[in-house]
Amino acid sequence: MSEKLYIFDTTLRDGEQVPGCQLNTLEKIEVAKALDELGVDIMEVGFPVSSPGDFNSIVEITKVITRPVLCALTRAVEKDIDVAADALHFAKRKRIHTGIGTSWHHITHKFNSNRDDILQRAAACVQYAKKYVEDVEFYAEDAGRTDNEYLAKVIEAVIAVGATVVNIPDTTGYCTPEEYGAKIRFLKENVKNIHKVIIATHCHNDLGMATANTLSGVLNGARQVEVTVNGIGERAGNTALEEVVMAIGCRKDMPVHTEVNTPKIYRTSRLVSTLMRMPVQPNKAIVGRNAFAHSSGIHQDGVLKNRESYEIIDPAEVGISESSIVLTARSGRHALSHHLERIGFRLTAEELEDAYQKFLKLADRKKDVSDEDLRVIVGVGQSEQHRRVKLKYLQVVCGKSSIPMATVQLNIDGEICTATASGSGPVDAAFSAIRQLVHRRVTLEEYLVQVVTRGSDDIGKVHVQVENQGNTYYGFSANTDVVTASAEAFIDAISKIV
Ligand code: KIV
Ligand code: ZN
Repeated sequence: MSEKLYIFDTTLRDGEQVPGCQLNTLEKIEVAKALDELGVDIMEVGFPVSSPGDFNSIVEITKVITRPVLCALTRAVEKDIDVAADALHFAKRKRIHTGIGTSWHHITHKFNSNRDDILQRAAACVQYAKKYVEDVEFYAEDAGRTDNEYLAKVIEAVIAVGATVVNIPDTTGYCTPEEYGAKIRFLKENVKNIHKVIIATHCHNDLGMATANTLSGVLNGARQVEVTVNGIGERAGNTALEEVVMAIGCRKDMPVHTEVNTPKIYRTSRLVSTLMRMPVQPNKAIVGRNAFAHSSGIHQDGVLKNRESYEIIDPAEVGISESSIVLTARSGRHALSHHLERIGFRLTAEELEDAYQKFLKLADRKKDVSDEDLRVIVGVGQSEQHRRVKLKYLQVVCGKSSIPMATVQLNIDGEICTATASGSGPVDAAFSAIRQLVHRRVTLEEYLVQVVTRGSDDIGKVHVQVENQGNTYYGFSANTDVVTASAEAFIDAISKIV
């Protein structure tokens, strides 16, 4: 059995630091509940000294969430640690995450200090936090740019005073995977008592290498990964939870496993994106709209023959149930018939050919074709064939300052008949002419027009409901010409009476 990899989620702390992504307490509780259901092991729920709002949110979360370890961030400052201990008062399982910058840049510019002083402050903050909690995680900020020898001394010092987890952040996202992995290995091989603690990765994505660096850290001995949902976080963001979890889940050569409930991934991603007003890019790995979408005919055919031809993860494993075959102008007949069967239409070869030609015409005008569009394509074709009353010809006259008139020619059981009528508008005129020809007392009970998308060149769908001798009949049609669609929908309903 492989070793367990601990998932430390920092969506509510590092993720929430992004300008414009701030959540109120209720929203944070909602995200915390979703993360709990997702099965993360540790949840970093805030930086309590930063604001009274953050402090309160942490307190409220600790009252609701009891399974995972709840963690609060501090600087290497006693006041921060006091406040964090206070904020975590109700937490069942708690951790304080404290630390200090260890790179030359931080020591010189941020602290105007020296290495000995920083080493001493690192150990002191851990020692101080131990007064309050057993579980203390230490972070060496900007460890990515800290030289390994000095980093090893700092880590050894914090372990000596009781740190339980040591976090090695690549705060600026500067490391390459090889370099970051080597750093973790160096610590594993050179720090006294390193086996007593868990090494954590915390990678930022400034060069797009956060996931690669995290995995490299894991392959070199890290057993906790610090991640956010959708990879949100300052600048280019943090390591994306879903990417690391699925990389570990789908590859068979990883030395670790996670206990994440992966079918909850997509739902959690949507929730975080919505609440944090942070859209997910369509081509984002695992959770992007196109992550499992196949649009070219060759790929669609390959996936339909065997999903694994072009998919390394079953979308259902991350909670995506929709079909991954997107219908576009490049789709083939195989993809079309797959979708038609999915929504309940099994066509003969001839019918499919007819539907495919209609589909191609529509797909040329629309970016992608929806289930609604398919029903329109097939529904119209099927009902027309079986109708006893068919529209042969329709001409309307309408416009400002003219009396709306319609001339209609119908084929009723093979007999051609024509009528002309006026009305309050072209549709009303067409309906009157149809009524004259079918010799039925039909009352129009409902008339509804919808456009499939939003363009003025789009298909209009028309539903009508008519009454005859106490019975109700429904008719439907669709056409880019809404007057024709209306006449056909009316005839569709009437032909059911006839
Ligand atoms: O990126 C970073 O270094 C951090 C620490 C505060 C853990 O977020
Ligand atoms: Zn960070």
